[in-house]
Amino acid sequence: MQRSEINGLVKEAEEFLEQFRFKLPPWASWDLDTWRKESPRTRQIRERYLGWDLTDFGQGDFFKRGLLLFTIRNGDPRKRASKTYAEKILVIRDNQETPYHFHWQKTEDIINRGGGTLVLELTPADHTTEEPAQDDFTVYVDGIARKCEPRHRVRLEPGESITLEPYLYHRFWAEGGAVLAGEVSKVNDDKRDNRFLEPLGRFPRVEEDDAPYRLLVFDYDNPEFGLNDR
Ligand SMILES: [Fe+2]
Repeated sequence: MQRSEINGLVKEAEEFLEQFRFKLPPWASWDLDTWRKESPRTRQIRERYLGWDLTDFGQGDFFKRGLLLFTIRNGDPRKRASKTYAEKILVIRDNQETPYHFHWQKTEDIINRGGGTLVLELTPADHTTEEPAQDDFTVYVDGIARKCEPRHRVRLEPGESITLEPYLYHRFWAEGGAVLAGEVSKVNDDKRDNRFLEPLGRFPRVEEDDAPYRLLVFDYDNPEFGLNDR
């Protein structure tokens, strides 16, 4: 993706969050110079990949399959003494799919915090083969048990939430307008805890046709931006 396109998408996300008066930490709006200046104090942010994040799942069509999010807090999965929880805010566009995946370790609650309807399709994974299983299963929507068959779809209106346990394949998209979605979960480990049904990429390839409006998590390690002090 071109940097100019990413910049535009982050600006739109900022406006979307503002519509709901959803506030981010001050460093969410730092420019590159401030990141460079504050670099010695931001090691935890960068090591835990807190901040702006965007993916097209390696498919090159962000509006069809993609996600823009901001990780607000997270532990370090490699450190036992670290916090064990994470929180994200997701901007899910109308009909924009996050494809089928499950987590081996992470249990997550996905919350519709406003906008359109959030649709999730769910299928349990076989624990041995990790392929979709044909078993019925139970999910909890706002703590209320719901018995489901494979490929069951849950529709969450603003205020509603669902708990997704390990080994439950989920894909989701917005209908009737973009959705502001929260995620409250166990510690998040994007490098080791995402099992996509089809092999997909995690970060987009960026063509630097413009300066970054905001740094994204995949920029922290890019020596070009001068933050590689860890
Ligand atoms: Fe997930």
